[in-house]
Amino acid sequence: MSFSELHKETETQLLSEVDKICEGFVVGPEKLAELTSYFIEQMEAGLKAGDSELGLPMIPSYVTGKPDGTEQGVLLAADLGGSNFRVCSVTLNGDHTFKMEQLKTRIPQELLEEQGVTSDDLFGYLARRTKAFLTRNHPELLRPDSNGALQPLKMGFTFSYPIAQTSLNSGTLIRWTKGFSIKDTVGKDVVELFQEQLKNYGLDMINIVALTNDTIGTFLTHCYTSGTALQAGSGEISEPVIGCIFGTGTNGCYMEKLDNIEKLPAKLKASLKKEGKDEMCINTEWGSFDNELKHLPTTCYDTDIDQKFSPNPGFHLFEKRVSGMYLGEILRNVLVDLHSRKLLLQQYRTHDQLPHRLKTPFELSSEVLARIEIDDSTTLREIELSFLQSLRLPTTYPERKAIQALVRAITRRSAYLASVPIAAILKKTGALEKRYHGEVEIGCDGSVVEYYPGFRSMLRHALALSPLGPEGERKIHLRISKDGSGVGAALCALVA
Ligand code: BGC
Repeated sequence: MSFSELHKETETQLLSEVDKICEGFVVGPEKLAELTSYFIEQMEAGLKAGDSELGLPMIPSYVTGKPDGTEQGVLLAADLGGSNFRVCSVTLNGDHTFKMEQLKTRIPQELLEEQGVTSDDLFGYLARRTKAFLTRNHPELLRPDSNGALQPLKMGFTFSYPIAQTSLNSGTLIRWTKGFSIKDTVGKDVVELFQEQLKNYGLDMINIVALTNDTIGTFLTHCYTSGTALQAGSGEISEPVIGCIFGTGTNGCYMEKLDNIEKLPAKLKASLKKEGKDEMCINTEWGSFDNELKHLPTTCYDTDIDQKFSPNPGFHLFEKRVSGMYLGEILRNVLVDLHSRKLLLQQYRTHDQLPHRLKTPFELSSEVLARIEIDDSTTLREIELSFLQSLRLPTTYPERKAIQALVRAITRRSAYLASVPIAAILKKTGALEKRYHGEVEIGCDGSVVEYYPGFRSMLRHALALSPLGPEGERKIHLRISKDGSGVGAALCALVA
């Protein structure tokens, strides 16, 4: 066989292997229906009292009402999320609008990765950033009054990791996700840890009055900015029902009837009802859906990533198939596998010879995948450049074709799976049937849903294929709700 014939044969083999791999990422309507009904089951199990390992976490947030946009006040908010820490001052104007000043910092790699990092290191860092923000943006708040005291300030703290919340302003960390692994924080009250460090840095006038999650923040912000809107001219009501995040991680929340939240103490429910409250926002922590892998589609790459590379093996398995932190890592694992089977990148004879970045877990970001997804040039030039830039990796045209097919399959699965919790919550709450022609709004935030090309339309497509059907899908408005973590924390702090 000549060299070029050999080459052709490898190409054909590569493309047929890639087809097989892509098949493994397909999620069809039947799977969507199966996952949706299992999701509802898991929500119900999670709302029951007892064994917290059963079902979804379904964490009561102690938020019992939706803002209507008339809220007013100036508050501080701190937000520890996927890759950044933000401190903000938020002015709620009471007319659905707000003003926000903020200091945003990328979380230093050593806090994420180094062994021996403690809670004090992390929360000390957050306190120092808070001080830096006040010094830069609000020096007046650091000047003592004539009695030598500083003006008391209320702060809302958005902490976007699974928390066992015990009241509006207390909760213990269940486990880290999204890269952190500081052991001594698990099981501790994160408000106490942060409050203590604020004190150490001379900021004891700050009182953290509310602890919340980015998904709750996104929901509340969406309610504040949109309100229950009467669709202009049509007489139809469009109601905010879900808040969700599709970014580094993924999660969602919704309002649940107090009567259905069996795990809330009866006494608390009774006293809330006395105050006229009959619902509470539930942080589902849907990243943890089906950690037992009874129904989630699983490829060998998902298993490897979870077991060999992720910081929390066995947990957040839904997130590991859906969120931005994992999309690039799935592609990297497939490429390394195809290389080991001698189907691509054959200029590198052994695994050791592969470019360092291709061997490094989590080095391929979802931004690179976004560029690959939409390259429609005849030579797939954008993909060529992206691989050169991000991984220092030259590619041939057939390799690029294979890479694009893989990226599209991986992200389509992510968007299709993303429809499952949305369909399940809408089914469980009956939100689409509440009013004749009633429509629902879903406040979304996160880099994937906001920026990944086609993600929202793939998600919509999956909603139409899901048990909601095309009629249900048409009643859903996916709205990007930005700055949810900051504004939402301020809204929580306001009601505290
Ligand atoms: C966390 C959630 C968070 C989500 C989105 C997940 O990893 O467990 O608490 O809401 O990421 O940031």
